[in-house]
Amino acid sequence: MAFMTSKLMQSFETSIFSELAAFKKEKIAQGIHMIDLSIGSPDLPPPPFIIDALVKNVQDPTQYGYTLTGTKEFYEAVLSFYSKHYGVTFNPETEIVQMSGSQDGLLHLPMTICDEGDVILVPDPGYTAYADGVRMAKAAAYPMPLLKENGFLPDLDAIPEKIAEKAKMMILNFPGNPVPAMANKPFFEKAVAFAKKYDIVVIHDFAYSELVFDGQKPVSFLEVEGAFDVGVEFNSLSKSYNMAGCRIGYMIGNKQIVGALAKLKSNLDYGVFSPIQKAATVALVNGNSFLKENNKRYESRRDALVDGLRAIGWDVERPPATMFMWAEIPKGCTSKEFAIKLIEKAGVVVTPGNAFGPSGEGYVRIALVQAEETLKEAVQKIKNSGIF
Ligand SMILES: Cc1ncc(COP(=O)(O)O)c(C=O)c1O
Repeated sequence: MAFMTSKLMQSFETSIFSELAAFKKEKIAQGIHMIDLSIGSPDLPPPPFIIDALVKNVQDPTQYGYTLTGTKEFYEAVLSFYSKHYGVTFNPETEIVQMSGSQDGLLHLPMTICDEGDVILVPDPGYTAYADGVRMAKAAAYPMPLLKENGFLPDLDAIPEKIAEKAKMMILNFPGNPVPAMANKPFFEKAVAFAKKYDIVVIHDFAYSELVFDGQKPVSFLEVEGAFDVGVEFNSLSKSYNMAGCRIGYMIGNKQIVGALAKLKSNLDYGVFSPIQKAATVALVNGNSFLKENNKRYESRRDALVDGLRAIGWDVERPPATMFMWAEIPKGCTSKEFAIKLIEKAGVVVTPGNAFGPSGEGYVRIALVQAEETLKEAVQKIKNSGIF
């Protein structure tokens, strides 16, 4: 039988990630040693106390029913975490919804709020799931460039009045992927005022909330007055506790928006596996010293890579947060050409910035997802390649 996939499915593209992965595979098949700094997923496991909680509950035969939604214990653990870390409280019965990793919610939320043709303001460059969520909603993305001269924050004043009036949703992500910039309270206050003026729903993706360096304090969007009137915040245990494959995330905020996603999800799935919910609860309650330790590890990796690259003549910025560096490339080639050159000449894989949107041209994203020694080896390989 011959058939065509839907127009919606046809609108999804094979990402540049798979293109690069194929190129990398080809090189490995030729026997070339590659250091892969293109992956956006933690390389280390969760700490033993989380794995123990998971194992204990997996062995309990009573844990295998549908959970349907987040458990009371999980929601209360998030409440206590948010209250301690950000001074944010919420109603655990109506202002939070759980999901299988924040990606699930990021893709599904836009279709609960937007109709075909509605405008969604998205960061450019931005995490690729935002564009996918826009597509699923058949909405139209309007890029908000994240530029160095603006501290990589979107310039809300530069959004044309006509676009702001048509916009139904705005997506923010601080600290972000691929751009590891941090937002401050005044910026979020401005976003809330903008959202109120134009009736826009704000989605803040806070997936990297716990990977913040140099003693700085991450800012939750929900800390700002009025945030619950206009928006929601996604968070996840994937990056904070190295639980990326052990899928669990959540969204907190405006009751109506939470209700919309909860309604869709009640038709879509039957909840996160109970042992994962229990392991996540233990992580949120007992994970503080692990968070500090994990932060130190990434901070030290970051310093090794930044110092190493600067020493060989690549003047990269020191990221204040996340597991990524957003590195400006030398003039004279595109991001993709530069990434290919790094694979071919140095055996180091990074992601071209324009894979995340047109304003990412001129940059590559380097992930700190290898041991410090391997990052130093990558520097040496880049040095030996003679690119700098
Ligand atoms: C900015 C950002 N948001 C959300 C996610 C999705 O994470 P998860 O679905 O594992 O919670 C990622 C994953 O890489 C990300 O980088």
